[in-house]
Amino acid sequence: MTDFKELQRQYEFDVYPKRDVVLVRGEGARVWDDAGREYIDCVAGHGVANLGHCHPRVVQAVAEQAQRLLSCSGIFYNDVKARLLERLAGVTPGNLNRAFLCNSGAETIEAAIKFARFTTGKQELVCAMRGFHGRTMGALSATFTREYREPFVPIVEGFQFAPFNNFAKLAEKVGDNTAAVMLEIVQGEGGVNLGKAEFFAQVSELCREKGILLIIDEVQTGFCRTGKMFACEHFGLEPDILCLAKAMAGGLPMGAVVCSDRIEVPVGRHGSTFGGNPLACAASLAAIDAMIEERLAEAAAEKGAYLTERLKTAELPKVRDMRQLGLMIGIELKEKSQPYLVRLLEKGVLALPAGATVVRLLPPLTITHAELDTVAEALVEVLFGGD
Ligand SMILES: Cc1ncc(COP(=O)(O)O)c(C=O)c1O
Repeated sequence: MTDFKELQRQYEFDVYPKRDVVLVRGEGARVWDDAGREYIDCVAGHGVANLGHCHPRVVQAVAEQAQRLLSCSGIFYNDVKARLLERLAGVTPGNLNRAFLCNSGAETIEAAIKFARFTTGKQELVCAMRGFHGRTMGALSATFTREYREPFVPIVEGFQFAPFNNFAKLAEKVGDNTAAVMLEIVQGEGGVNLGKAEFFAQVSELCREKGILLIIDEVQTGFCRTGKMFACEHFGLEPDILCLAKAMAGGLPMGAVVCSDRIEVPVGRHGSTFGGNPLACAASLAAIDAMIEERLAEAAAEKGAYLTERLKTAELPKVRDMRQLGLMIGIELKEKSQPYLVRLLEKGVLALPAGATVVRLLPPLTITHAELDTVAEALVEVLFGGD
């Protein structure tokens, strides 16, 4: 049998710390390795597979579209793209009604920064400490973690940081040259830190008063993950720009910057060759329809509560804190999480870190209660028992 690990080690310019497993197949909340071993997948492609792996509706839509039209430049109109844009306007909150389509989360942030600067004629953005917005230069400049930014200086100028959930400190950073405030609703990479209703209400009010744009990054929290179609709905927030990606196309690469009428950028000043290609659009339409029909938001809320309830009844000697919104779950340990992630993998459960000490679970929202029971048992054994 080919040693795929060795082959990949030889030819990949690797930027990811690797787990010792070759994944070759997925179905629902399960994935299989090249030796046929099965895992319950609480990584879900870093929060991509909200609908589970290879959802039949997405697979069918992709197969059909692949035989009709695979690529279409943004200089032409396209049937599937038009239908997806209409659907996005329908499912997003407030008066978010026009979207720029691209291919990744970081690309949505790049566009949001450009759109905010052009619309307001101002340069600065206020972001949150421990926030994460991606790895490209603009997105990196909005990302707080110093280790991600420092090796690549000079980064883009004009970014200020305030503590998450501290309105007074954030307001101090706002000035005459502030174009936008950009926040996540739950900081995913930063440790699964939940934003507070009062903080968002105050930030929203400040932005309205001062004519500052509010950009909400829902690349990770969007598309039912937190128990609502979009996490900003928990707080009645109506951003001027909403950044979406990850789960949006049922597993295919896609991003969307959904804008209110306030946002202006002239034709010809931004673009993306692959952005909104018909294959991703067809996948996204099928994915969004499946999320609505299968009531995935409600499922995420109920299953997230079910899993954390099960964990809370167990002995918790190694756990400092548990944070959860829908099926976005962070278990903060009193020590580093990496060895526990390895032990979970050995028990057939794939999980993620979020910072050094948090075990993060982002399972498909279609995960069954029986699978959640298996995850809970593995977590209890690995995290809560023994030495
Ligand atoms: C909140 C948030 N924004 C932006 C990004 C960047 O997305 P991508 O990796 O698709 O560029 C991520 C990725 O994890 C994210 O969690």
